[in-house]
Amino acid sequence: VVDISSLYRETGRFTYDPGFTSTASCESKITFIDGDKGVLLYRGYPIEQLAEHGDFLETCYLLLYGELPTAAQKADFDHRVTYHTMVHEQMNRFFTGFRRDAHPMAIMCGVVGAMSAFYHDSTDISDPYQRMVASLRMIAKMPTIAAMAFKYHVGQPFVYPLNSLDYSSNFLRMCFAVPCEEYKVNPVLSRAMDRIFILHADHEQNASTSTVRLAGSSGANPFACVAAGIACLWGPAHGGANEAALNMLQEIGTADRIPEFIARAKDKDDPFRLMGFGHRVYKNYDPRAKIMQQTSHEVLSELGIQDDPLLEVAMELERIALTDEYFIEKKLYPNIDFYSGITLKALGFPTTMFTVLFALARTVGWIAQWKEMVEDPSQKIGRPRQLYTGEVQRDYVPVSKRR
Ligand code: ACO
Repeated sequence: VVDISSLYRETGRFTYDPGFTSTASCESKITFIDGDKGVLLYRGYPIEQLAEHGDFLETCYLLLYGELPTAAQKADFDHRVTYHTMVHEQMNRFFTGFRRDAHPMAIMCGVVGAMSAFYHDSTDISDPYQRMVASLRMIAKMPTIAAMAFKYHVGQPFVYPLNSLDYSSNFLRMCFAVPCEEYKVNPVLSRAMDRIFILHADHEQNASTSTVRLAGSSGANPFACVAAGIACLWGPAHGGANEAALNMLQEIGTADRIPEFIARAKDKDDPFRLMGFGHRVYKNYDPRAKIMQQTSHEVLSELGIQDDPLLEVAMELERIALTDEYFIEKKLYPNIDFYSGITLKALGFPTTMFTVLFALARTVGWIAQWKEMVEDPSQKIGRPRQLYTGEVQRDYVPVSKRR
């Protein structure tokens, strides 16, 4: 390992690495990715095993504390998260100040950023107890806030948490229950939701996680840091890709139009890219995409949606792209976002909610990474260098003499 800062001090040199493609910004024990082999491990456990046998809250415990919980630890953790699911009543007013047609991600950026105003008794990051409470609050309240953003967006009254339900069932109920109608959670759909949360829980130093770490490196409180992560996640090259992928599949519409879109993706004069394809780290099949594809089949079959045209277009597009020289040469494989849009749409979410769901699930990853950083004694404020390419020094010209 080269200590770049001492190298810079000694030689006056630094590395120039746009997009940080080969510069590690931290040490971490949380998530491991082998992009060439298509491997993803949370604290050493393969994502496939966690998605098949685990649940989201135990994945949260694992990411935060490094080990899977015992039965007693799990019961205690579930209880403590459940205790914090309600949001401050004043926050309702905060929501209702937004325009109804506001994008739910815009609402999320604002509301989550404002949490430090509502929960300032857990913003002293030097206090381990406050850090723990802030972490639990964030994991517990994010589904409530996400569901409120959804309800506000579709013009329905807020549904309060029902804490006798598990995490994902509670979330689905807060999103889809309506007054005067009985709502029964479908266990197959709530299990699928839970699995989607597990798949999105962490992904090491991606753009939004790096943003959270960079914001946190200045000592900013965790609510502010997570709000920064949400803002970064919103971009179409990152968390916004699931929304963009579904829009693209809808635009393609039928399998016979796929070659036209493949040709556009390969045309360097056309900015179009196949959304849901390619990844900075995976140069093989994203292991999450395989689980997501299977989950999408399960959800569609449970809902009795046979022959979904979007799923057919997606599978055919994948088949064609995986045999195309351009995609083979550039190692572009479907990523998690390729099938998640179809699944989330079938679950009843509008496309504008897709990135919100991603943010909900990724909150635990952001918090675990933030916690790891804050608890690392060697931690320093993040301060990337730059390669200046602007003007050399010059003298000020009065406005009357400028041409
Ligand atoms: N369609 C067509 N061509 C692509 C695609 C794509 N989806 N992705 C990459 N390429 C091409 C680029 O044009 C580039 O070609 P070149 O070498 O001829 O210039 C080459 O592959 C490498 O692409 P980069 O953008 O340099 O790769 P990078 O690692 O920076 O980008 C990214 C990764 C942003 C994910 C990119 O593949 C992309 O834009 N994909 C579509 C958006 C998407 O699905 N994002 C979700 C990512 S996963 C997540 O955030 C959960």
